[in-house]
Formats: sequence, C-alpha cells, structure tokens
Amino acid sequence: MALVRLNKYLSTLGIASRREADKLIAAGLVKVNGKAVKEMGLKVDPEVDQVAVDRVRVSQERRLLYIVLNKPKGYVCSAKPTKTDPKIVTDLIDVPERIYPVGRLDKETTGLLLLTNDGTLVNRIIHPSSESEKEYEVTFFKQIPEGALNKLRTGVKLGGEGTLPTQVKKVGPAKIHIVLREGKNRQVRRICQKVGFPVKTLKRIRIKKLLLGDLPLGKWRYLTDLEVADLKSKV
Ligand code: URA
Repeated sequence: MALVRLNKYLSTLGIASRREADKLIAAGLVKVNGKAVKEMGLKVDPEVDQVAVDRVRVSQERRLLYIVLNKPKGYVCSAKPTKTDPKIVTDLIDVPERIYPVGRLDKETTGLLLLTNDGTLVNRIIHPSSESEKEYEVTFFKQIPEGALNKLRTGVKLGGEGTLPTQVKKVGPAKIHIVLREGKNRQVRRICQKVGFPVKTLKRIRIKKLLLGDLPLGKWRYLTDLEVADLKSKV
C-alpha cells in the first residue's frame, strides 16, 4: 500500500482531524511500531505499520474502493510513470489505498475509467468471457456513410482474426455510438480505420449500466452501492 502521512492516516480513519492529529503527535500520544513519533511529516504504510493513539491500537480494515474517473487525454493507464509517459491516471485520484484501472483506455482516449482495489471485479469486467458491454462515442474527420456503419455492425477482421458484431448508432453526421463486448488492443480505432474512417476523438461513455454522465473531465467519484452491485452481476 502507498505511504501516507500519519496525520492524514488518522483523519482518514476518523480518529481526529489532521490538525488534531498533529496535536496528538506533538503531545507524544501517537506511537508507530511501539515508538512515540516526534517527526511531524512522518509517513506510514497502513498495511505494515502498527499505529497506536494513547496506547490504543488503530488499524485500517481493507476498504474496497470503486471509483469512476473521467479520464483526460495524455494520461496512461499504467502503474508507474515513465519518461515518455509521466502522467498516470492514479495521479488524478487522491486516496491512500493503492488502486488500479480496470482494463485500459489509450493515452488519447477520454471518458469512463473504473479504478478499484477489488481484484474480483477486475476479472468480471475485463475477462473475455464476461462480454461486458462497453459503449464509446466516436467522432470522425468526415461524414460516415451507412455502408461503413454496416461493416462495423457485422464485425471486421483485425490481423486475420474476426471481431464480434457490434451495435452502432449514428448520432451525428460524423459521430457514432458503438458498443463492444470484447476488448482487443485499440479495437475501436483499428476497426474504424479498417473501414476507411480514422477516429478523430474517442470517449468511453458506459460500462454495463454504469454511465459517465456529466462527470467533468479529470474528475472522479465513488460508485454507489447499486452501481457496484450491477457491475458485479453476471448480465
Ligand atoms: N478502443 C480503442 O481503440 N481505444 C480505447 O482506448 C478503447 C477502446
């Protein structure tokens, strides 16, 4: 688990506000691994360090977090930043737990990204057998005719391999909504390119019943219990 400042950790657990926690620390009432803490900015690992306040041990139950982010362009769905890709999606989410994206969106793709620390949910959504519906809004550089849409609907071959038929709805002269039930690498971009219409912008707007809605770009929120239950359901 990621390191977290001791005062923040105590406030996340509801033991004290950060300022009150600083006072408890200054009064010598907080111990980490049996030693009273003197250093104000000390960071702890909630999964490893034993924290006690006034001799009472406090600990964090493993919280399962389910988060939806409206991913902006330029962020990658990797665990670690690199020189070429210094911006990672978890930079946008301020929680002490280590969470990871469920599946991937390309660096240039925006929209609905799920993040969690619940490994069972990850498998339900991204395992090919789950066939969970994912819906994207796609814009093109030019108007797209019915013929091209029908090719997308019946399924396009990529690298000699077939893709499943898709649902496609035209929502503007150069804009469609497309629903996939599989997740091959860069699938939307590749199938659109294959029918002669390179993608201008790509945004994911739905996974199963979970909608991106009006969540602003770069912002995140927790899922409701109902949304989590739906994501975990088989249909
Ligand atoms: N298809 C793509 O081409 N890119 C994504 O990010 C998601 C689906």
